Amino acid sequence: MESEYRFQHRHILGIEELSASDIGFILDTAESFKEISQRPIKKVPTLRGKTVIHLFFEPSTRTRLSFEIAAKRMSADTFNISASTSSARKGETLIDTAKNLTSMNPDIIVIRHSSSGSPHLLARHIKASVINAGDGTHEHPSQSLLDMMTVREKKGGIAGLKIAIIGDISHSRVAHSNIIGFTKMGAQVYVSGPATLIPAGIKQLGAIVCHRVEDAVADADVVMALRIQKERQFDPLLPSLREYAAFFGINRTLLKLAKPDAIIMHPGPINRGVEMTFDVADGEQSVIMDQVTNGVAVRMALLYLIMGGGDR
Ligand code: CP
Repeated sequence: MESEYRFQHRHILGIEELSASDIGFILDTAESFKEISQRPIKKVPTLRGKTVIHLFFEPSTRTRLSFEIAAKRMSADTFNISASTSSARKGETLIDTAKNLTSMNPDIIVIRHSSSGSPHLLARHIKASVINAGDGTHEHPSQSLLDMMTVREKKGGIAGLKIAIIGDISHSRVAHSNIIGFTKMGAQVYVSGPATLIPAGIKQLGAIVCHRVEDAVADADVVMALRIQKERQFDPLLPSLREYAAFFGINRTLLKLAKPDAIIMHPGPINRGVEMTFDVADGEQSVIMDQVTNGVAVRMALLYLIMGGGDR
């Protein structure tokens, strides 16, 4: 019997806006695209004639490059604007930038911005589809989708898993998207970190807060460490990085509390020796490079689906 499901999103602004069916469909689509990146000729004509603008007002290695690789592998024309080379430096507002870009008729704008809600603002003012590549401390939906794809691939599913997310929960858009996403997919998300980096409302997103990191990691299927985001901490919220590493850094001893086949994740960039030890980051349980590989497939799926690919 044919499924009634249809992917109907024109923008990807957050995991909040996606249903469990949407997430499952995006992950299925991403899985089917993964093989393209293994071919000798890594190019399909799917988005030929489409224009994708990457508007990055914050630094990025993984997200920016994998969106660009994804678009190019689907034959779209891509253009990059960064904070240092855009007229934002001359005082132009985001909406004025967006209106000017719209006049050039792009199909998709991928935006990273330090202000939470910027992609939503953009989506209200322009005709193109908008993808949120990270907005302030709010959401990072494509990162969460690649994390869910990696967990599903390694664990055979998401429902019923214990996911431990350790670190700077307050400032992490990855944590927010992942708490929402993994909970929607039926996992139980435990968070732990210094009390100054755990926001009061996090339980309302569905997370279970553990003041002892050992409680979060005990019997976990997935242990995800987050970057300490010093650029978003305006008050000194940690005594020192050395103290953070001693109490909350993921090391071999702490990892022994997790399930023997637990996987280790990190969205990157890693502060080695702070969020996790070198041997954990590079150890056999680490799937950090798989996350990066899956990032290209997930972003190919997002570009394809918001251009109406799911209907074809
Ligand atoms: N995970 C992530 O967003 O990495 P980048 O900042 O390098 O894009």
